[in-house]
Amino acid sequence: MKFFIDTANLEQISRAQSLGILDGVTTNPSLMAKEGVKGKEQIFKHYKAICNIVNGPVSAEVFATDYEGMIKEGEELYAIDPTKITIKLPCTEDGIRAVKYFADKGYRTNCTLVFTVGQALLAAKAGATYCSPFVGRLDDICEDGISLIRDIVNMYQYYGFGTQVLAASIRHTNHILKCIEVGADVATCPLKPILSLIDHPLTTKGLDIFNQAAASMKE
Ligand code: E4P
Repeated sequence: MKFFIDTANLEQISRAQSLGILDGVTTNPSLMAKEGVKGKEQIFKHYKAICNIVNGPVSAEVFATDYEGMIKEGEELYAIDPTKITIKLPCTEDGIRAVKYFADKGYRTNCTLVFTVGQALLAAKAGATYCSPFVGRLDDICEDGISLIRDIVNMYQYYGFGTQVLAASIRHTNHILKCIEVGADVATCPLKPILSLIDHPLTTKGLDIFNQAAASMKE
């Protein structure tokens, strides 16, 4: 399973990149706003800075909600770094049309705000590179986000779609472990759950024991 980091914070992206396990980055308007970037010039510079850190796809979400606006914005975003930028488009009527437009041009796309298998089917038929079902937000309303990931993975496998299932809205390590279980292609996670995967009390305890043994052998 690939790991994307779900943030626009340059420090956190660099930290995940330095681990050597990072496959890409996802952002959204809320995550960009958190970084205090304002206006097109700053926003584009920020995406460029992200692209310069990570060696993989960087999802940049359009702000436009109409088809023409999405096409114009998507083209501009893609031009920031055509080797990395993935145009993130919402799963709406205009968004699906825009996914199809960019897919036909051979651009990478990420169809976001997916909450049903039906939406995931449309994203795949439009040719999306990634389909982003939101696990945490479904759990928040007492639905089962991981079941949705499993159902989409099965549906894509059954019909042979090439679209990758990008599990989004991941909140904790258990979400990540469940994503592995149901076969998500990618999990995009905040830094904290990624780092939490490293921790285990027996690893800490075992290292203490080894350190004591190593110290006892010093001359
Ligand atoms: C990433 O692609 C999504 O925009 C993000 O994971 C949403 O996460 P949230 O539900 O925690 O805001």
